[in-house]
Formats: sequence, C-alpha cells, structure tokens
Amino acid sequence: MNDRMSDMMSDIEEILISEEDLQERIKTLGMQIAADYEGKDLVLVGVLKGAVLFMADIMRYINIPLSFDFMAMSSYGKDTKPSGVMRILKDLDEDVESRHVLIIEDIIDTGFSLSYLTANLRSRNIASLKICTLLDKPDRRKVNVKVDYNGFSIPNRFVVGYGLDFAQRYRNLPFIGVLKPEVYGGTEA
Ligand code: IMP
Ligand code: MG
Repeated sequence: MNDRMSDMMSDIEEILISEEDLQERIKTLGMQIAADYEGKDLVLVGVLKGAVLFMADIMRYINIPLSFDFMAMSSYGKDTKPSGVMRILKDLDEDVESRHVLIIEDIIDTGFSLSYLTANLRSRNIASLKICTLLDKPDRRKVNVKVDYNGFSIPNRFVVGYGLDFAQRYRNLPFIGVLKPEVYGGTEA
C-alpha cells in the first residue's frame, strides 16, 4: 500500500462490507435479474456517480442482451444533509420508450432521489420500472420507495467506498467502509 492509500485507509473506522462479500452478493443479484428479464428489452439506468462501480460489476452477471445508460441528479441540500428538491444534471442519451427500465443505484437513504427519478422515468411511456440498489438504509426513509433488488440493508452510518463518496473522495475503495465522524465533522443529520 502506498502512503496516500494508507492516508485514505486511516479515515476509515470500520470495513462494513468486504470486497469479497460485495462481489458474491452482486453475482447473486445479477443472476436473479438475468432470469427475471429473460426475453425482455432491458435498459439499465445507472445513477452517477455513485453507481458506476456497481453498474460495471453487476452487468457482467446479467448475461442477457441489454443496454445501459446513465443519469446524474443533484439535490440542493449539502452533501450529508439531503433535501427533497432535486434536479437532473444529465439526462439519458437513449430513448427508453417501450423498454424495461431497471434503475441501478448505490444507496437509498431518505428516498428523495429515487422517488424523484422514478416519477420522472414513469412519465416516458416505458414498459416497466424497477429499482436495484446496492445498499439500503431503511431507518432513514422519509418517502416510501419500493425497492425490487437490494444488496445489503445497513445501519444509519455514513459509508464510503465502492462508488460512494464524501466530498468526491473515497469512491475508489473496493469495499464499503464507515467514515470516521471526525472526517466529515460530526454526526449525520
Ligand atoms: P436519498 O435521496 O436520501 O435516498 O439519497 C441517496 C443519495 O445520497 C445516494 O445516491 C448518495 O449519493 C447519497 N448518500 C446517502 N447516504 C450516503 C452515505 O452513507 N454515504 C455516501 N453517500 C450517501
Ligand atoms: Mg447517488
């Protein structure tokens, strides 16, 4: 490990989900999705930037014809304090009309992002819409969102790694870790 990598590691309080456990669960989810969408025109819609690593790994296990695309959204709230006000920063490149859309998301927390995104995608005359999230923090939910595929339910702690960031950092860690509270300045909202 180089010095800068060990600096990043020293900001981590605990490894919550190891690289091996992530990959094993993602394989199971991917194979289940492949079976469920067999014969259907599937498009995976990843939410930037957090879902990039999850998207890249899970699609290798969804061994049916598919395409994938990305959207980017932003909440007007500060990084660790979500608000219900959302906007689209990057829309889909592809037309998804009449197709089966599966959202690939890193984490569902309050549910604001996904309830906004599902309402937006449902207005596009798609064949079906489901949600696949790697992580779920059920205790934090403020709006009800139906999750169809969930990797792991986790406690209410601020996590980074495997795509998830704090201030755009730590996304490249291969595991899900809990960030030391002193790194982000106190307790989560
Ligand atoms: P929601 O709209 O509150 O459900 O928030 C979902 C978004 O908040 C995720 O896509 C993440 O970008 C971010 N988020 C929520 N919890 C965490 C966390 O523990 N670590 C990093 N990002 C998080
Ligand atoms: Mg996100």
